[in-house]
Amino acid sequence: MRFTHLVISSLTFIQSLALDLDTSDSKSICKAASTIAQGALHYYDGSEYGGSVGCFKPPYYWWEYGVAFGSLIKYQHLCEDNTHENLVYNAIVSQMGDDKNYQPTNQSNTEGNDDQATWGLTVLEAAENGFKSPEQDGHPSWTQLAKNVFDAIYKRWDEDSCNGGLRWQYEESRGGYNYKATVANANLFQMSARLARLTGETKYVDSAKEIYNWILGSGLAHEGEWGIEVYDGSYTDDNCTDVTKVLWTYNYGVLLAGTAYLYDVTKDEEWKDRTSKIISGSQILYNNTVLYERACQTYDICNTDQRVFKAIYARYLAIAAKLIPDTAETVKGLIEPSAEAAAQSCSGGSDGVTCGLNWNIDGWDGKYGLGEQLSALEIIQNLLVTDRDGPKKHN
Ligand SMILES: *[C@@H]1O[C@H](CO)[C@@H](O)[C@H](O)[C@H]1NC(C)=O
Ligand SMILES: *[C@@H]1O[C@H](CO)[C@@H](O)[C@H](O)[C@H]1NC(C)=O
Ligand SMILES: *[C@@H]1O[C@H](CO)[C@@H](O)[C@H](O)[C@H]1NC(C)=O
Repeated sequence: MRFTHLVISSLTFIQSLALDLDTSDSKSICKAASTIAQGALHYYDGSEYGGSVGCFKPPYYWWEYGVAFGSLIKYQHLCEDNTHENLVYNAIVSQMGDDKNYQPTNQSNTEGNDDQATWGLTVLEAAENGFKSPEQDGHPSWTQLAKNVFDAIYKRWDEDSCNGGLRWQYEESRGGYNYKATVANANLFQMSARLARLTGETKYVDSAKEIYNWILGSGLAHEGEWGIEVYDGSYTDDNCTDVTKVLWTYNYGVLLAGTAYLYDVTKDEEWKDRTSKIISGSQILYNNTVLYERACQTYDICNTDQRVFKAIYARYLAIAAKLIPDTAETVKGLIEPSAEAAAQSCSGGSDGVTCGLNWNIDGWDGKYGLGEQLSALEIIQNLLVTDRDGPKKHN
């Protein structure tokens, strides 16, 4: 009897830990976000003796660390909670590398254009959200670091094949050097659009237009009847004639935020229209009203990288609502049901609040990891995006 009683009470205890979320209450949103962020940091390596500052534990890759710190900067801004500020600051500063452009020697065997740009987008997040400045420690400003990343990547723009575009990898010896990946190009496009807004320098508007036109012109994104579809990439071997038409949330998100920033800079209706069309196109990434990683969740084959894509999409979908208020209602409809679904999936693991991958089923699906935590974090915390200040500019 006593034993049974104990089991029951401990089960009750675990159940009461599952995340509650009231999507109309900022306190509830931030309580949930705080718990999920804490869960993400279980995978951080830099807090432990002998661990590496700026790095998460295996099996996560360096690019995803950049995503994680971007999400935590966003968390600090949206929930006005600086609990993790020093950890995140030390992490981002530690990875800038000798050339101060996020090409650290430690990553020289694996880093691609997309990876480097992911960190560039993280430092832009820091600049736009007034995150603790690195200049006080003798480092370049966040804006300067972002410019350095942009310059390093943009000089690799390759006119020798496919009429332009960036290759996925920048080292010839690596698999993927012959692939013009949408994400490498879309990341650089978004960096350019954000630098245009942040600095007020028109050259970044010009490069953003050039990159966007190439992405559409080469068929890596296609405007159809019900919106813009965003594909994965194409090979230089056949001059990019055969596009790999896999749909990832990541690519939609990166491209649509870039167009939203450009609308804010130029006030040109064309960019607003493009943002709306990518948002319309992205509805294919929902199962009923809930976001899912269509290309891999359908077959239950999502790898480590792919599990974080929904985080990136959620962050960038949300920023469109802030930059283009006309999209806010639509965006809310695309975030709220998924935020509720994600919250109820964060009911697993030994802590009772571990987030799952599939938000479409009742409760936790048994999957866990950094990507699962960050995806739930971004979809939930971004419920607040229109209640907070937008990104800063001109610094
Ligand atoms: C580089 O990698 C080594 C080995 O993994 C690690 O100990 C070190 O902290 C890393 N340095 C940086 C700056 O991340
Ligand atoms: C590659 O395709 C572009 C059109 O997209 C064309 O202008 C160019 O001549 C082609 N180059 C080769 C080597 O086929
Ligand atoms: C879509 O959602 C339904 C429940 O609403 C679920 O049964 C189905 O498995 C989901 N499909 C995928 C591909 O996740």
